[in-house]
Amino acid sequence: MSRMRAAITGVGGYVPEYRLTNEELSRMVDTSDEWIMTRIGIKERRILKGEGKATSDMAAEAVKQLLLKTNTTPAEIDLIICAVVTPDMVFPATANIIADKTEIRNAFGFDLNAGCSSFLFALSTASKFIETGSYKKVIVVGADKMSSIVDYTDRATCPIFGDGAGAVMLEPTNEDVGIIDSILQSDGVGRIHLHQKAGGSLKPPTHETIDAREHYIYQEGQPVFKWAVSKMADVSVEMMKRHNLSSDKLQWLVPHQANMRIIEATANRMGLDKNKVMINIQRYGNTTSATLPLCLWEWEHQLKKGDNLILAAFGAGFTWGSIYLKWAYDGNQIGVSTHDKSE
Ligand code: UT7
Repeated sequence: MSRMRAAITGVGGYVPEYRLTNEELSRMVDTSDEWIMTRIGIKERRILKGEGKATSDMAAEAVKQLLLKTNTTPAEIDLIICAVVTPDMVFPATANIIADKTEIRNAFGFDLNAGCSSFLFALSTASKFIETGSYKKVIVVGADKMSSIVDYTDRATCPIFGDGAGAVMLEPTNEDVGIIDSILQSDGVGRIHLHQKAGGSLKPPTHETIDAREHYIYQEGQPVFKWAVSKMADVSVEMMKRHNLSSDKLQWLVPHQANMRIIEATANRMGLDKNKVMINIQRYGNTTSATLPLCLWEWEHQLKKGDNLILAAFGAGFTWGSIYLKWAYDGNQIGVSTHDKSE
């Protein structure tokens, strides 16, 4: 009998309604649609508006949709892992809040933070709980309300990020599908280039930290860009080599959506045409932990059983990695088209 694998058996997603366009941003800071499109490739991003609305509200919407689409009751869920950089609170874990909001009561849950690689790391972690035979239904939800830590007076970072959530169901399979391999890496030396200075135990919040705007994203764009370009491509090419996957055998690259130039460089190194690359950065920007599941959500209808996918990400830490999986079902068989197709 073949080894048990973890397969993605459904996808849910949620993006807030409000669209923050480049036009609106250019009235907030000294920037332009032309600069943002050329340097980053983003046209608009979604923003979660409203008092008392948090990451868990978007995640709960994605999870509810996932339960509906996979015909699963909340009681059947064994484990929920939330990939997140912007938790609702420092504690408890956002996974617990999402479970409460979706009436998942028989599961345990925890958060996983690996910067923009959070979803990738969480998916690999979750797959181990299935492969060992411990659990049958595991949800991995990637969600971030990046607008809660973006400084909308800093033109170097405010065009990049958006809010959103995506969730996948993982279940065991003995078929030749599912998560086959992962390469996950991190190097803490990179933390100086991308972090939030205050709010943690190193610098608890004070009036001074607020005045110094230290509760927002701090990013040195160029070193992050250089590392991202080389590391995301390195691990993706290594994955192809490990599994003798020539570019014609690979149906899809699912890249983290941080910058169109990083996505293109990765695809080029892999020898992939752009039509094999999932790209929605122009509409959602960088939703951090939600980029990969939101791609799967949008492309679900085009995915076929047996398709070879490589997922790749790079983020704060630094963290990076790739996952090779074979898609487990024909996406066009999914009855309801639940995602927002509007451009
Ligand atoms: O997902 C987490 C990982 N994060 C990333 O992968 C982000 C990686 N980094 C990047 O994507 C890019 O470095 C950025 C998009 C952040 C910046 O692009 P860049 O091509 O590296 O620009 P730069 O920082 O070198 O800035 C070039 C110029 C500067 O002006 P001077 O010094 O040449 O006069 C900036 O002040 O562009 C200026 N600039 C802007 N101009 C108009 C920076 N931001 C803006 C802006 N609008 N929004």
